[in-house]
Formats: sequence, structure tokens, C-alpha cells
Amino acid sequence: MEIIKRKSWTPESWRTFPIRQLPDYPNTEALEKAYNQLQTYPPLVTTWEIDALKKKLAKAAKGESFLLQGGDCAETFEDCNSPHIVKLLKVLLQMSFIMVHEMNISVVRVGRIAGQYAKPRSKASERIGDLDYPIYRGDLVNGYEVDADIRVPDPQRLVEAYHKSGLTLNFIRALTEGGGFADLHHPEYWELDFMSNNQYYEEYANLVKSITNAVKFMEGVLPSELTSLRQVEMFTSHEALNLYYDSAQTRQTPHKTGWYNLSTHMPWIGNRTRDINEAHVEYFRGIKNPVGIKVGPPFDADEICDLIQVLNPSNEEGKIVMITRFGNANVEHGLPGLIEKVTRRGFNVLWSADPMHGNTFSTGNGIKTRAFDDILSEIRKSFSIHRDMGTILGGVHLELTGENVTECVGGANGLQEKGLDQNYRTFCDPRLNYEQSLELAFMTSREWKRLKKEKG
Ligand code: PEP
Ligand code: CO
Repeated sequence: MEIIKRKSWTPESWRTFPIRQLPDYPNTEALEKAYNQLQTYPPLVTTWEIDALKKKLAKAAKGESFLLQGGDCAETFEDCNSPHIVKLLKVLLQMSFIMVHEMNISVVRVGRIAGQYAKPRSKASERIGDLDYPIYRGDLVNGYEVDADIRVPDPQRLVEAYHKSGLTLNFIRALTEGGGFADLHHPEYWELDFMSNNQYYEEYANLVKSITNAVKFMEGVLPSELTSLRQVEMFTSHEALNLYYDSAQTRQTPHKTGWYNLSTHMPWIGNRTRDINEAHVEYFRGIKNPVGIKVGPPFDADEICDLIQVLNPSNEEGKIVMITRFGNANVEHGLPGLIEKVTRRGFNVLWSADPMHGNTFSTGNGIKTRAFDDILSEIRKSFSIHRDMGTILGGVHLELTGENVTECVGGANGLQEKGLDQNYRTFCDPRLNYEQSLELAFMTSREWKRLKKEKG
């Protein structure tokens, strides 16, 4: 594909490029007003946090650390509340502790949180009953309710999303910086029983005992990360899909060169908006944040390499996170070719696996779900492929929630298709629930350890 010649970049230069997934805002005046309003608000994150994350990602790319990125498929305004946020933080922290303990390296935690309000969709509208409605594009754009007015894209939601992200982030900071997770040292906080059907139950129970003891006594039994519970680090990420939202918060700050997206630490570019000659790539090429690139079929590996070149011309370490999402059935076929080309061009990237988005299917009753075994299997295969090719899988990207939802089938609790409607809550993609998430962290770490041992 021919790559267009680019002119100078500004946070708004994307506006002159062809764009996908742009909501059909009927009131452009109101849109510009909301955009201008967003531009006046203070940033949600800081440049030094972003730079610190980049350094950590560079370490993960070398296998000296591991990236755990996860959260809701789509956050909703309604779920901007204490229980939802606490539960998500709790599960991410516990998963990371399991990983730290098992892998004996540090874990970089990045939530899909505090801004993950926009969703790419394959159709612009949907038929419900006898009527066509604009498709729901996430709370950043319109409401989910089946109501012609609520489905109309409303620019004021950009501002509301900023407020909700700020509230979420404020609470995250309070919890992670103030030692709000002191309860972690109680074993009962770890809800062990669900694992009793897993053949590794005892191993898991011992692991939790060991973690809780370490946390309790704050001693150096474990890597130092676990002993400094008063301050756990949590970074934020979202898909920078609605460029009005992200570009309005893209700023320059004193004493730093370059532009930063200060609405989040690590924005990612979606699988459907990564066309090299289009608006999203234009926006992403100008920011200094580390960026994720989602890659799944169909794609051309040479084009992905050109994309990396455009987004990271200086080949800076920790800048690009390649988030591959092939699906369990396709990963062995698709991933090696991509790794080979990226490696041949000498690009520094952190390889991460998203075992969610290639493994979605609908049940006979039309419920969208994913199977725990497919998710785990794609992770295992990805580890092996990277090992065989001499590269490193340095992270995972998951859709999960700390709540007890029934959206994905399988796991030690053996959730079956007929149980899905017990507590199926997602407006978008099916998430791993609390138990499935902990089990996956455990099984992923086990696999990591096994391969490491095998390697000697
Ligand atoms: C997502 O992460 O929710 C998503 C839409 O992913 P992708 O761009 O990989 O389809
Ligand atoms: Co999703």
C-alpha cells in the first residue's frame, strides 16, 4: 500500500483525514462547543507518569517484567461507582500478586479504565422491532436504551465521560496510594473455594497462603513490590476511538518536549481503525504516550510494520505494545508470520496477547460468550510461539470484571451456556468474572513458569 506524505502534525491534524467509526453527530456546533470545553479542563494524568510507564513497558518487552492490562470491554456511566471500581481494582491487584509470586518478576498493571467509554461497531444502525436505531457506540457517544432520542450521538457525553473518568481516577489514586487495600492480607478476601474443582487447587491455596502471609508481615519473603502495599501502581488505558475526546486532552507541558494525551497513560489503536492513511494513525503518530496496537485478522504484516514505523520512527523502547488477537483457532497460523516480519525490521515492541477478541461466539440462544479454555489456550499457544521464535510474550490484555457476572463459559466453576443468563450484564463483549480472572492469572503464570523451566 502506498503511504501518503504527511504534513506537520497538530492534535487536530487528524480532522482532514478519512476517518472510521466517527459517530454521526447531528449538531456540529454542540460538538465543537463540547470539544472546546474539554480543552479547558485540567489533565487527568501527568507526563511523568506516562514516561514512567514507558520505561516499565520497555522492561516488559525484554521479559524483565510482565504487563497485565485488563478491565471492562466498555465502561458505563452507571458503573462509575465505588463497588464496581473497588472490585475491578481488587481483582487486578490480586491477579498481579499471583503473577509476581509465580513468575518472580514485577508486574505492570494497566486498567482498561477511566476513559474506556467508546466502542467500535460493525454497523451504524440496528433493527429492533420494526424500527432502525442508531447503534450503541458506548456511553461516550450515546445511550444503550432502545429509544430513538437516547441513541442519537450527544456531544455533551464527551464532557460527562471526562467527569466520570476524573471521578474514577481520583478514587483509584486514593485507593492505591493510601493503602486502601489493607484487607488483602486476609485469606478470606481471596475467595478460594471456587478453585476446589481445579486440579491445581492445592497449589493455588498454598500460593494464596504464601501471598497473604507475606502481605501480613510485610517482610522480604517476596519481591519487594509486595512489601510496599501502601503504594501500588495502577496505570490507565482506553481505546482512543473518539478522537474529539482524546485530541481535546492532548497537550504540551512546560519543561517537556512533544505532545501528550493526558486523558490516559496508554491509549491503544483498535483493530478497525489502524489504517495507515487514515485519521486515527495521524492522531497517534504525534503523541508521546506508549501506544497499543491491536492486530488481528485480516491484516497485512508489511502494513503493520509500516504502521509501527510511522508511530515510532525513532524505534524508542517501551513505545509500542503489539496486542495480538487472533483467536485460539488462528493464532498458530497468523502470529508467526507477523513476529517474523516485525523482528526482521528490527522494531522494538512489547508483545502482548489479547485472547478475548478472537474467541467470541454466540450460543444457540444468541448470547455472545467466550470459553475459558479457548482464552487460556490462546495464551499458552502465544507463549510457545514466541519462545520458538526467540521473542518474548511480555503481557496479556483481558476483558474482565471483579463482579460475579456470568458472561464467559468454563473455568473451575464450570459455568455452562445455560447458566449465562443468571447475571449477564455486559452491553458489549463478555468478560471474565472474578473467579475466572484469578484462575486465568494462576494458569497463565504456571505456563510461564513451566516454559521457563523447560528452557533451563
Ligand atoms: C476491544 O478491545 O474492546 C476491541 C474492540 O478490540 P479490537 O480493536 O481488537 O477489536
Ligand atoms: Co471488547
